[in-house]
Amino acid sequence: MQILDGAGVSEQILQGIRVETAGLLQQGNRAPHLAAILVGDNPASQVYVGSKVRTCESLGFSSTLLRLPADVPEEKLLEAVRGLNEDARVDGILVQLPLPKHISEAVIIHAIDPRKDVDGFHPVSQGKMLLSEPTFLPATPYGILLLLQHYGISPAGMHAVVIGRSHIVGTPMSVLLSRNAASGNATVTLTHSRTKDLKALCLQADLIVAAIGQPRFLKEDMVREGAIVIDVGINRIPDATRKSGSRLVGDVDFDSVAPKCSWITPVPKGVGPMTICGLMKNTLQAWKQAQSKPE
Ligand code: GUN
Repeated sequence: MQILDGAGVSEQILQGIRVETAGLLQQGNRAPHLAAILVGDNPASQVYVGSKVRTCESLGFSSTLLRLPADVPEEKLLEAVRGLNEDARVDGILVQLPLPKHISEAVIIHAIDPRKDVDGFHPVSQGKMLLSEPTFLPATPYGILLLLQHYGISPAGMHAVVIGRSHIVGTPMSVLLSRNAASGNATVTLTHSRTKDLKALCLQADLIVAAIGQPRFLKEDMVREGAIVIDVGINRIPDATRKSGSRLVGDVDFDSVAPKCSWITPVPKGVGPMTICGLMKNTLQAWKQAQSKPE
C-alpha cells in the first residue's frame, strides 16, 4: 500500500505557483486576487476559508475575506457578490458553502460572474466541463485529478465507483473521470443513497472516490485487493484520548481499508490540501484571463 500524499504534492504545486507569481509581480503586474465570502459562523467553514486566505498570502496573491452574519438577507449577499463581480481588482470569487437555510445556494451561485467562478460551481462552468471545453473545474475533483496525475496514475480503462452525487464533488468527479481526456476515460458508476448493493459495485472497482460525508463509511469488506481509494470526507468525531476531545476522520475506515489498497489518500493531508491547490490554480488562471481580456 502506498500513500497519495496530498499535502506534499499540493506544496510542490503551490511552490510552482509561488515562483510564477513572484515573476509576475516583478514585471510590475498586480497580484492575483481571490475574494471569499463567509456567511455565519459554521466552525468547519471558518477553518476552510481561513486556510484558503492564508494560502493566498503564502503565494503572494491578494485576498479579501467578507464576513456576513448568519441572518444576512439573501438580497444583501447578492449585492456583495455583484460588487465583487464589478470590481476589476478581483479575479476570483468564492462563496463558502453551505449557506444558511434561508438563502438559496443556486441563486447565489448563478449571480457569480462565470469569469470569476474559481470554484467552478456556476452552471456555465459546469456546462463547459460537461462538454470538455476549457473552464474552471470544481476545486476538489480538480485537485484529485492533479493528485492522480502527479503519481502517474491514469484512470483510463478503470472501473471507477464514485460514492455520493453532490454538485460540488461526486457529480463533477464522475463527469471528469469519464471524459475522453487525459485523466479521464474511466468507466464510471455514480452511486448514491438509493443505490442497490453498493458493496457489490465497490468490490468491482479499480478506483473508489468516497464523498458522502459519513465517518468511516467505506469498510474493508467493500474494497477489493489492489484498489485505489480516494477519501474526500472530513468528519470530526469525538475522541476522548485527544486534548481537543475530537479528531478528523474521512469517509473511509482507513486502518482496515489501507492494507488492501494499492494507493490510498489519508485524512487529513490527502484530498483537503489538493482542493486548495485546485482553487489556487483556478485563481491564477482567472487572473491570466483577466489580463488578456480586459473589461
Ligand atoms: N464547501 C465545501 N467544499 C467547498 C468548496 O470547495 N467551495 C466552497 N465555496 N464551499 C465548499
